Amino acid sequence: MKHKKTYSEYETEALGYELGLLLKDEPKVVILLDGELGSGKTTFTKGLARALGITQVVNSPTFTILKKYVTKDHHHRVLYHLDLYRLDGLNDDFDLEEYIDGLGMVVIEWPFKVEALLPKDYLLVKIEKLSDNERNFVMTCVGIPCKRAVQYI
Ligand SMILES: Nc1ncnc2c1ncn2[C@@H]1O[C@H](COP(=O)(O)OP(=O)(O)OP(=O)(O)O)[C@@H](O)[C@H]1O
Ligand SMILES: [Mg+2]
Repeated sequence: MKHKKTYSEYETEALGYELGLLLKDEPKVVILLDGELGSGKTTFTKGLARALGITQVVNSPTFTILKKYVTKDHHHRVLYHLDLYRLDGLNDDFDLEEYIDGLGMVVIEWPFKVEALLPKDYLLVKIEKLSDNERNFVMTCVGIPCKRAVQYI
């Protein structure tokens, strides 16, 4: 488990970028972003995306559930960005595998809207809003792919 604090939107994006650099060569990694409205989940995701080499603007996919981004370079790295905020009550129907059609980094905002969703290996990033601009990040790796990243961040 690792704790990190940020004091601005910029620092949160930068923290996502650092973590993204440590994870970009993993074939498959699932990152669960758990935090209240406006805690910085999408901001953090923008940093992860930048580390992968994604040049498109990453916005909150609130009205689509899933957005998929692929880098334009020869790595063809993939980011799946999910926001399950509106999925209340659909727990039994939701199957993550139906949305994820390949390898890549999977980032999920509001992961606990779907209790049955948790894969076996994941990196849990809990974001606590301490004040207007202050956030505490608690990163816990469950399973193999993120162990090294959490150690070095
Ligand atoms: N340290 C910080 N880190 C991240 N965002 C911050 C910080 N301090 C202030 N903010 C502000 O908090 C907001 C975070 O918005 P963001 O869309 O990233 O949150 P979110 O967790 O994705 O929200 P939602 O649950 O609505 O999707 C922005 O308006 C940003 O400017
Ligand atoms: Mg968001």
